[in-house]
Formats: sequence, structure tokens, C-alpha cells
Amino acid sequence: MKPHYVREYHNLLRRLRKESTSEDEVFERAVGGAYVRAGNAQADLVREIAPAGDFFLLDIGCGSGRAAFALRDEKRISYLGIDVVPDLIAYAKKKAARPDWQFEPISSINIPCADECADIILIMSVFTHLKQTEIKAYLAECMRALKPGGAVIASYLEFTDEGHKKKFYRPVRHRIARLIGRDVMVSFTTKDELSSWFVQAGLTVERAIGKSPIGQHVLIGRKPPPTAVSES
Ligand SMILES: C[S@@+](CC[C@H](N)C(=O)[O-])C[C@H]1O[C@@H](n2cnc3c(N)ncnc32)[C@H](O)[C@@H]1O
Repeated sequence: MKPHYVREYHNLLRRLRKESTSEDEVFERAVGGAYVRAGNAQADLVREIAPAGDFFLLDIGCGSGRAAFALRDEKRISYLGIDVVPDLIAYAKKKAARPDWQFEPISSINIPCADECADIILIMSVFTHLKQTEIKAYLAECMRALKPGGAVIASYLEFTDEGHKKKFYRPVRHRIARLIGRDVMVSFTTKDELSSWFVQAGLTVERAIGKSPIGQHVLIGRKPPPTAVSES
């Protein structure tokens, strides 16, 4: 049986195709809307944390390419976007129009890149649809994929945020929609809990951003740089 997130996102896309009037509407709604505004906010975070010069950005759950589209003019970025829905990946690739960038469909929690390939890993609005065990598995994969000194930027729904909590107590009809496979899982955590998972994975928590322009909270972690070996 396919993992829940693959089934849920495929069903979501099928439903949006029936409900929407244009392809653009389908692919904007599939990632939560605000294609340009949210993409620009994600791009700002990447630019803020980016090292000087060229760097490799890994976008986990890149969806229809909000970040890729916003960053498409940055020549110094090498990019790999991965997602469980091939149609979203195809749309992202078309929107970014960067033949040198890679977009790859995946079907489980595996990052298709060599160890220590990435300078920055972006995971926006993805942990919000995964179970705890899956988030921890991704963080372990991030540690493997990150270069020493590289950073993870992850967004999440904060349980102690009153605005987010409202979504937790969503109307009964939404819960039923998920039970019958018409909606995706929505999961919540807290800064402390997510920070502890970062630390368990070996990441240092560098910064927590309360509600960001993205509409979610953001935690930034870093893979420690190699310790200098002292000569004696
Ligand atoms: C709310 S959308 C956000 C997309 C994108 N990060 C953005 O902010 O525009 C969540 C995305 O995560 C993808 N996704 C869900 N589970 C995933 C998983 N286990 N691995 C990678 N992507 C996943 C979905 O297909 C969807 O494109």
C-alpha cells in the first residue's frame, strides 16, 4: 500500500481538477494558494540564510514550484526539487523554466542525492502533512544530505498559536473529508517538540521565527561544521 501522503495528495489533485476552472488554479490550490506571495517569502528566507557565492538548494515537497518560481532568476543556485506528485513536479519545472535545475518525483521518504550535497534544505508546508515518525525520518535524511555547516529551513503549524489551533479543531465536515480520502492530513507540533527532533537528528537549532509571511512558523537548523583538529 502506498504511504498515506502519496494517496492523500493524489486524491487532492484529482478533486481540485474537478473543482477548478484552470490549470493554474489547480496547481496554486494544491500547495495552499498565494503562489507568488508565499513563494517570495520562501525565497527571502533562502536568500537570508544563503552562503556567499554559488550554492545547492534542495526543496523537499517542492509542490508546484512556489519557491522555484520565485528564485528562478538566481543564477548562483543549483537546485533539486522533489515531491510525491509527478504532476506537481512537472508544473514546477515548467514554471521555473530552468533547464539546469532538477525536479524528481519520489514515492517515499528518501532524498535522491549523494551524502553532503546540499547547502540549504527547504521544507515548507510539508511537515504539516506528515506523522511524527515521518518527520524524524526526513530530519535524519536531511542530516545525511546536508553539507557540514548547511542549513534546514522548515515550516510547521504551531499548536500554541491560537490562529493555528483553530485549524486543529476544524469543522467536523473536514475531518470526515479526510477519513473518506477527500482531504490531506494536517499535523501540528510545537517549537520545543520540533527543536528536540532537530537535536535528536544532530542539527543545531539556530533560529525560530514566529508566524512568518508564509503563514506558518519556521525553524532553522544547522548541521555542525567539522570541528577543527588542533595540532599539538
Ligand atoms: C502544502 S504543499 C507545499 C508545497 C511547497 N513546499 C510550497 O510551499 O509551495 C505540500 C507538498 O508536500 C508534498 N508532499 C507530501 N508528502 C511528501 C513527502 N513525504 N515527501 C515529499 N513531498 C511530500 C505534497 O505533494 C505537496 O506538494
